[in-house]
Amino acid sequence: MAYETILLETRGHVGVVQLNRPKALNALNAQVIAELTEALNTYDANPQIAAVVITGSDKAFAAGADIKEMAEKDYIDASVGNFIAPWQAIARARKPVIAAVAGYALGGGCELAMMCDIILCADNAKFGQPEINLGTIPGAGGTQRLARVVGKSKAMEMVLTGRMLDAAEAERSNLVARVVPLENLVDEAVKLGQVIGDKSKPVVGMAKQAVNVAYETTLETGLQVERQLFYATFATEDRREGMAAFGEKRSPEFQDR
Ligand code: CAA
Repeated sequence: MAYETILLETRGHVGVVQLNRPKALNALNAQVIAELTEALNTYDANPQIAAVVITGSDKAFAAGADIKEMAEKDYIDASVGNFIAPWQAIARARKPVIAAVAGYALGGGCELAMMCDIILCADNAKFGQPEINLGTIPGAGGTQRLARVVGKSKAMEMVLTGRMLDAAEAERSNLVARVVPLENLVDEAVKLGQVIGDKSKPVVGMAKQAVNVAYETTLETGLQVERQLFYATFATEDRREGMAAFGEKRSPEFQDR
């Protein structure tokens, strides 16, 4: 597929997707979502790729869903057309996805970052859910994922007022894993992807699945899923190699089996 709104690059075993609608501050229209989904599916199917980084420009990760694309829709267009539903495919990527956020991550941009597994941000990052200022509410997880990550009080404040968090507050609020200088952002995200890439791919997949369950179910069910996935690692050669290497005081050599 020839992409028009994203740029792709492979660095070692890490796929880097750069959102590329600079004139619209990477506003997420249907084409961006379709191309991003296609790119993630392609990376998922590529055994050479261990992790994916999604990034934007220095000014904007993404300034939200494309307001101009939404402006003329009425309720029936929105609900029957179900135009946000395709976004959910991004959260279903099987390989680890790292958001490298510089500048604005607003509305759908913040929601896209939260669909990723890890968020790294630059010191100029700004996160917000400003939909309330447009007379609407977040529609791609901003009321759900945000509340689970930063807690009810801060999520309510952000969603009801549109107030933005700077990078330091985003880190304090557990929205991001780490803040890094803008000039190192993508390199740091790729490095993180490479660290993950050195592990056993099937076991990384199980670990990702287990953590994600924590956001989707009760503690009791989550603990059961975790235990089953933990036991499942014992069916892999890599688990045997990892524990043998520990005993032999050497680095493990994972075969992704
Ligand atoms: N959709 C469409 N176009 C957008 C956009 C968006 N979300 N955000 C910015 N743009 C466009 C602007 O219209 C402008 O285009 P023109 O030059 O053609 O006028 C261009 O990007 C540059 O934007 P600004 O001139 O506004 O840049 P700025 O530096 O003055 O301000 C900003 C930056 C504060 C991010 C401002 O652009 C802004 O507030 N953007 C909208 C943010 C927003 O409300 N996002 C939520 C969208 S709704 C949503 O996401 C719903 C959901 O949950 C799925």
